[in-house]
Amino acid sequence: MALKPATNPDVEAATIELTIDGRAITAKDGVSLYDVVSGTGKIVPAMCYHYTFDPFGSCGMCLVMVEGKKAPVRSCTAKATAGMVVRTEGDDLFQARKKAVEKHLSVHPLDCPVCDADGHCELQDMAFLHQVTNLANAKQKLIPEDTRSLVLDFNMNRCIACGECINICKDVLMIDALQFAKKGGFTQVVAKGDQPLACEFCGDCLAVCPVGAITNKYSKYRYKPWQLKKTTTTCNYCGDGCQMIVETKDREVVRVTSPLSWKNKWGDRSETAKG
Ligand code: SF4
Ligand code: SF4
Ligand code: SF4
Ligand code: FES
Repeated sequence: MALKPATNPDVEAATIELTIDGRAITAKDGVSLYDVVSGTGKIVPAMCYHYTFDPFGSCGMCLVMVEGKKAPVRSCTAKATAGMVVRTEGDDLFQARKKAVEKHLSVHPLDCPVCDADGHCELQDMAFLHQVTNLANAKQKLIPEDTRSLVLDFNMNRCIACGECINICKDVLMIDALQFAKKGGFTQVVAKGDQPLACEFCGDCLAVCPVGAITNKYSKYRYKPWQLKKTTTTCNYCGDGCQMIVETKDREVVRVTSPLSWKNKWGDRSETAKG
């Protein structure tokens, strides 16, 4: 994994032409096809993609059809190339994306009523968007919650193994406190070495998690996301002036979140499409 841009910043990428849903589009050669598609204003579902680092390609939602390929292609990991003919809509794509949602939900707990992410969850949104109502053979992982850290709790029953928490901690924050580990037959996110997490507790892993797998020990089970008033302010801890969002109920500060929690995770479409 690496920070964006995916193309080498020292080499000016060639400008190419491709066709998306019948429209001729220009883009930089080699950038993520997802960025090019979203730069046209189209919203293709995606759960593991985040504009701050290279695509991970694990969730299977960002499918598009590319002329010459028999099966749908994951647009986040596919590179835009000259002459590509791409289709982003159609019943075949809807059904393929729906299958991906069903696969995630087939090992997912029925936690929505008590989940911190309820109402702000990409998996929930995808289930709604694709009308997933019936899951044959659904199983539960029954993984005990990891509450060993001072601030963050990890509920790996809800994790969709998108890797965003690990990648933002490693590639954007340069801290690298998290990793995947195979435990109890499942891929789980753990602190490095499977020790209790002891980091800066910046909360960005929680912010980018598309589901409710990482929660704040002190604010979970208290309010739903839509019950809290969000006020953007500037952190005064150091001189960097990072923006943060203070979430309050009446006059009580319930939690502080990062703009990454609320900003469009796919970034500024017109910018990203330029590569
Ligand atoms: S992570 Fe999303 S889908 Fe899963 S229980 Fe929480 S709100 Fe529901
Ligand atoms: S809280 Fe920040 S430093 Fe700690 S694991 Fe999460 S992203 Fe990394
Ligand atoms: S904890 Fe969240 S961000 Fe991390 S891999 Fe699981 S679903 Fe993705
Ligand atoms: S967004 Fe492309 S595979 Fe997840």
